[in-house]
Amino acid sequence: AGIIDIEPRTGILYINGSLDWETQQVHKLQVESLDESGKTVKGPYTVTINVEDINDNPPEFNQTKYYGVVRQNSRPGKPFMYVHATDRDNPATLHAQLSYSILHHFPNPYDEMLFQIDNATGAISPSSYYLDPQKQDTFILVVSVKDMAGTTTNAFTSSVDVIITVKESLWKAPPIIYIKENSTQVHPVNISKVQSNEPGVIYGIFEKENLPRLPFSISENGDIYVTQPLDREERDNYTFFVVSKDNTGELVDKPLQIQVIVEDINDNPPVCQQDLTVIEVQENEKGGSNIGTVFATDMDKKDTLNSRLHFQIQSQEPEFPSDNLFYIQQDTGTLQLAGRSLSKRDSAKYFLKVLVTDPQFETICNVEVHVIDINDEIPIFKNSDYGSVTLAEDIPIGSVVLEIEATDGDEPATGSSLIIYQVKEGDPNNTFTIETDSETNRGFIRINKALDFETMSVYNLVINATNPEPLVEGVEYNSSSLTKLKVSVTNVEEPPAFQKPVYKTEVSEDIPVNTLVMTVEAYDPEGDSVRYSLEGDVRKWLRIDSATGQVYTASPLDRETEETYSVEVVASELSKVFLILHLSDVNDNYPQIATDYPTFFCYPVSGGERALIQATDADEQFFYSKFTFSLADEMNARNNWEISKFNATHAYLSLKHGNFEEKAYDVPIILNDNGKPPLENKVNLKVSICKCSSENSCFIEIDRQHSWPTTGQAIGILLGVLIIIGKPLRYDGAAAFLTRIHLLGEDLSSMLQNE
Ligand SMILES: *[C@@H]1O[C@H](CO)[C@@H](O)[C@H](O)[C@H]1NC(C)=O
Ligand SMILES: *[C@@H]1O[C@H](CO)[C@@H](O)[C@H](O)[C@H]1NC(C)=O
Ligand SMILES: *[C@@H]1O[C@H](CO)[C@@H](O)[C@H](O)[C@H]1NC(C)=O
Ligand SMILES: *[C@@H]1O[C@H](CO)[C@@H](O)[C@H](O)[C@H]1NC(C)=O
Ligand SMILES: *[C@@H]1O[C@H](CO)[C@@H](O)[C@H](O)[C@H]1NC(C)=O
Repeated sequence: AGIIDIEPRTGILYINGSLDWETQQVHKLQVESLDESGKTVKGPYTVTINVEDINDNPPEFNQTKYYGVVRQNSRPGKPFMYVHATDRDNPATLHAQLSYSILHHFPNPYDEMLFQIDNATGAISPSSYYLDPQKQDTFILVVSVKDMAGTTTNAFTSSVDVIITVKESLWKAPPIIYIKENSTQVHPVNISKVQSNEPGVIYGIFEKENLPRLPFSISENGDIYVTQPLDREERDNYTFFVVSKDNTGELVDKPLQIQVIVEDINDNPPVCQQDLTVIEVQENEKGGSNIGTVFATDMDKKDTLNSRLHFQIQSQEPEFPSDNLFYIQQDTGTLQLAGRSLSKRDSAKYFLKVLVTDPQFETICNVEVHVIDINDEIPIFKNSDYGSVTLAEDIPIGSVVLEIEATDGDEPATGSSLIIYQVKEGDPNNTFTIETDSETNRGFIRINKALDFETMSVYNLVINATNPEPLVEGVEYNSSSLTKLKVSVTNVEEPPAFQKPVYKTEVSEDIPVNTLVMTVEAYDPEGDSVRYSLEGDVRKWLRIDSATGQVYTASPLDRETEETYSVEVVASELSKVFLILHLSDVNDNYPQIATDYPTFFCYPVSGGERALIQATDADEQFFYSKFTFSLADEMNARNNWEISKFNATHAYLSLKHGNFEEKAYDVPIILNDNGKPPLENKVNLKVSICKCSSENSCFIEIDRQHSWPTTGQAIGILLGVLIIIGKPLRYDGAAAFLTRIHLLGEDLSSMLQNE
């Protein structure tokens, strides 16, 4: 192509022109050397020149503008269109690796982006369910594409406009569906239809409530069916969801809620409330008197004609002295005497058949009318005063307090002689009730609500006796139908009651002595003052004000001793309640070097050996323990030792040179914890440089002059030497014992005696 030339004298190949990877990626040359006469001396040789790509082509979209359509309620993340760009640079390099993004969209009614793009594929999808053609039906997206995978600021960028139209969703909930109950159509019956925004989806139904059965189904093309006749009296509305899924089972649209209302038809007959309604009528009751009601119900919808009932007397038995002694109000079922009073001599009983109808059904309700004597006697108490009874306030509800009795001279076993006892005065809260034994007409006064000496210690009850039937004219209840009873309530010692079942609080472990921790209050039902004391305060951390229940600290608290401190508060020596004190941590413990293992190096040292040291701290650290280790700023320390971090709790101590003597050294180390605020501690780490008897142990010869029990004998003590980097730790009881000897140093003999 004439781009590469050769300098004939020197044989230097040079480029005259510009290489372009996109035009030609490989140049193959044949080179030969010729003599003056043009004869080939050497060659020809093949020279292959590979051109390397540089990023010199910006990406280009394959369209100058894109148009897309999205439906409202499309699932976020589901692509509805793609943009595509190409880059002429070498696809094997980043130069042609493209990354798409959305720069803006216009308008942008919310603060967040309504659309998103897959940076690798250029697929555009909604990012939320906010799209609504009623509000905004067109958007312009500015989509940009960068090469270099979008990772550097030197990438080439192109952008393009994407015009998006938002269309109304096809996927819409139908309006409320009304279905007549008890339908005789052949089921399933189509009742509605839904359509997804996407083709080829799979429709499904799921219930909102957990019903024993859901009588609805949906077909492949979105038709909704009711599968069987419905019964409004069983259930008058249904709510369920229809969903559309793709073939991987993922939701395509958001579920739609379908509401069905079951409409009433008149499919229930009236029902008599009682198989037989019995009504008593006194001989003297006048024509027109209201004597009772026939009750009937209808399960069809209330307040509609379907449940509207009509009453009508169909027959009267006997029809003596006339066939129309009774009258019924046709809309209410109320029975009245038609024209005249009844007489027992004519008939003591009448049987009525009452026809109850709704617009479609009819039912017969049976009524028996008993003609009874007139109510011309009042109930008269045997005692006009039952004196007094004394009850303990804790008497159980339902207990019988007293039996009372009145008598009535009217016809037995009728409403003229039956007695109703009531407390007329002295019992505002219905603490007592009275039941009548209908056979004996005796009354039983019972406890209806708990007595309480503190609110009411004496009841002066006035009790009356009446009949369910009205008295005849001219007769009235008088004081003979009244009686009296005095009820005295005695006190039962009740323990004071605490306001809470348990008292809990959290305090910081560093609060000063005499700080008020909390107030525990108990209430005495008798109104006496309550005395407080503490039990189980084993650490003597607390005291209580015996009169007020205020609890104070009595000595310094310490979370590291006990994190949750529990005592009991005793009220008037009768009731107890737990008081639980949770101590929150304060960073009040200095970090320390763990002394489980001695630190040593085997003599002679060569420099560079290292040993692991560990820090500990009794405080609750912030999430986890974390320490920093450093050498104190002292000349010797810096010259001899070096500390490097191993992990959050361990560090390496290493020797900087080989000139250590066989003795114990003190290494000044500064430890910091990660409490809030952090604490710093300077510790002296004892490090032995000792002769080692074996790889793992340090051999120390005990000084003969020391008051050792078996004098005159040199004893070697093997110190358990456990820390060898890179080898598992070993630890045993004997080593632990010997370790302690070593650490105690001067106290050796006294300790041995104690042991
Ligand atoms: C370099 O190329 C130009 C034309 O592109 C030509 O005129 C010129 O002679 C070339 N130079 C050499 C040294 O070949
Ligand atoms: C492209 O998207 C993927 C995940 O969707 C993300 O991990 C990656 O960082 C994105 N790349 C760029 C350049 O934004
Ligand atoms: C349906 O109606 C018929 C009469 O129309 C009735 O006999 C039947 O009990 C009704 N079914 C239900 C479930 O109400
Ligand atoms: C009746 O009830 C009210 C409200 O519970 C109470 O304040 C009052 O002390 C009660 N009286 C008696 C006599 O029990
Ligand atoms: C109450 O009335 C009855 C008759 O109904 C009578 O015998 C009785 O003496 C009366 N009692 C009083 C206290 O007047």
